Amino acid sequence: MSPSPTPAVEPASPEAVRRAADLIRQGHLVAFPTETVYGLGADATNDRAVASIFAAKERPDFNPLIVHVPGGDEARHHVVVSDLGARLIDAFWPGPLTLVLRRRDDCRLSRLVSAGLDTAAVRAPSHSVGRALLEACGRPVAAPSANRSGRISPTTADHVLANWPASDDPDEDRPRPTLIIDAGPCPVGLESTVVDATGEQAVILRHGGTSRETIERVVGAVLEARGDDAATPRSPGMMERHYAPAKALRLNADAARDGEVLIGFGPDAPADALNLSPTADLTEAAARLFDLLHRADADPAQSIAVMPIPDTGLGRAINDRLDRASRGEDRP
Ligand code: TXA
Ligand code: MG
Repeated sequence: MSPSPTPAVEPASPEAVRRAADLIRQGHLVAFPTETVYGLGADATNDRAVASIFAAKERPDFNPLIVHVPGGDEARHHVVVSDLGARLIDAFWPGPLTLVLRRRDDCRLSRLVSAGLDTAAVRAPSHSVGRALLEACGRPVAAPSANRSGRISPTTADHVLANWPASDDPDEDRPRPTLIIDAGPCPVGLESTVVDATGEQAVILRHGGTSRETIERVVGAVLEARGDDAATPRSPGMMERHYAPAKALRLNADAARDGEVLIGFGPDAPADALNLSPTADLTEAAARLFDLLHRADADPAQSIAVMPIPDTGLGRAINDRLDRASRGEDRP
């Protein structure tokens, strides 16, 4: 396999923004500036493109991603905006505040951006270049910070580029951003604050560019889900939970036993299995994982069996998620 080329870096301009928007619509990854940090963006409605974000970041697990939109009107196409959400949008958008809200029943966002949850995190960035890209693209854009897993969030285009240096390794086929739009340093330099706005009281899931005090001036007292000290008790239901099937799940199965529905992988899977990827392509498998888990959960079968998945590349994130599901860790 030939190595992916080094990302092109282009100074922000209307042409660069148009090219970036085309690339995103075609399923490519583009790194772009927001007021907080540079994001690694992909079409949030394209499962494969979203899966390639995780592959590019070499994430060993699937965390839900933030979906970027121009504003509240576009957010309403994808999520149910609660009264609380509407007040926060009016006060803080565009800006460094992300809202976790329920996915609409007809939501077309990839299930992978929500890591299978029935919520999605949405935000409208205030950076003029980021906004121009979202407008030109006409699609919701999923974007975590544009760095490889475990590295520091990038606040300049050079930081982004340093995460994807040229490789001499002929086996190196990790996805990379095709284009990096350079608009200089990000003014905030710190990620957005993430607030769960599904209920009546705001719950801060991650501190960031919008302070707790500013939020409280608009919506009153907020809770914090992160508190590890006794003074901030963790209430059940407030923590970010990962999607897990309600049914028991058996790993490394080669066939379904009585009462099981089989999730298969690769060309040798039985024809009636829910196949993550008939061609054994891990990006496709990641893109379909949560959809097939939901379908297996809705199947009349009592429990779920899953065939072995290779533990390389995105396979590690897939196995991490399946492993927790088999141990019942995230079960509601
Ligand atoms: O400033 C930012 O927010 C940057 C720029 C690029 O916009 N983006 C960013 O995205 O930091 P990301 O994907 O790295 O951060 C996502 C955060 C994580 O803490 C994740 O757990 C939380 O948002 N999150 C996303 N969806 C969620 C959901 N449905 N429920 C709970 N938490 C969610
Ligand atoms: Mg990050």
